[in-house]
Amino acid sequence: MPYAAFRSIGAYVPPNVLTNEDLTKMVDTSDEWITKRTGIKERHIAAKDEKTSDMGTKAARKALDRAGMQPEDIDMVVCATISPDYFCMPATATIISANLGIKNATAFDISAACTGFIYVLSIAKAFVESGMKKNVLIIGAEKLSAITNYQDRGTCILFGDGAGAAVITATQKREEAILDVHTASDGSYADLLMTPNGGSGSVHDALDRETAGCYMQMKGNETFKVAVRTLTQDVRDILEANGIKSDEIDHFIPHQANYRIIKAVGDALKMRDDQVVLTVAKYGNTSGASIPMAINDLYESGNLKKGEMMLLDAFGGGLTWGSALVPFAPFE
Ligand code: ACO
Repeated sequence: MPYAAFRSIGAYVPPNVLTNEDLTKMVDTSDEWITKRTGIKERHIAAKDEKTSDMGTKAARKALDRAGMQPEDIDMVVCATISPDYFCMPATATIISANLGIKNATAFDISAACTGFIYVLSIAKAFVESGMKKNVLIIGAEKLSAITNYQDRGTCILFGDGAGAAVITATQKREEAILDVHTASDGSYADLLMTPNGGSGSVHDALDRETAGCYMQMKGNETFKVAVRTLTQDVRDILEANGIKSDEIDHFIPHQANYRIIKAVGDALKMRDDQVVLTVAKYGNTSGASIPMAINDLYESGNLKKGEMMLLDAFGGGLTWGSALVPFAPFE
């Protein structure tokens, strides 16, 4: 049976920056409140005509180049997004495939909000280990600014745009294998985080659909409590299941939603500061893109080395959550 190896990482961040100061001109908030409650200082916002697939394509191209692979090598493309180019179809993954010149590959999107990248990682691992696919391109890409209500101070201060991508390939080497991926959900909390309109569950008329109902709505405080509790337990479980202690992890790369959530989970697991990767201050919450963007930052800073063990964890709308133990395994 082949194992699945995490070969490369890439990311794209749109150049336009929206600072906390900028937001004070849009809603009743302050830099002090946002910084204290979330740790976010700024986020990047895509251009009006820049689509999720455009960002995903740029991130994916980097990941492919770094893996030394050609478009024709890829036999599956999976994109995690809650802000796809088009509401129902075509899938963003098919558009990214076309942009990259990837032909005849299986391509689809998945919707698991901020846990999206862990979900696509689990899908890639399963397909590669089963022998059904050899080289899988996984992407987390979000234009959250397109589904954010910039009159709602409870959400608009949190979210940003960007994309990250990774190449997962088959290997026979046990030491390169993605060790484990946990994914889970609880739909009874669906109303904590949702975009209520636009789908078959929509109860509003066409006019409403064009306004507030298509934007994200969140019960932030309740979500916060469930996030800390669930993530701490989930990370404990994956470490215990694999006989790994938290101090053996080289890089703890959590979903970047809120500094306080990351700190609470990190403290509960006795993570040292130098183990924890933090990008929330400069990118805000980019949902499914946040973990690969953080891995890419670590890589580009020269601090992600071959063989180092990454612990990923995420929590998001659904509710969904998950974690993964992933050694970085670039080709020689
Ligand atoms: N500026 C100033 N005041 C504000 C703002 C703001 N931007 N937003 C809310 N407030 C006010 C509220 O109105 C409230 O005022 P009140 O006490 O007079 O009623 C007060 O601040 C406290 O509000 P809370 O919502 O209780 O603040 P909290 O400390 O919980 O922080 C936050 C809010 C940052 C949203 C936090 O709850 C959070 O991070 N939640 C989790 C988010 C998350 O992890 N989501 C999952 C992933 S996202 C996804 O999947 C797409």
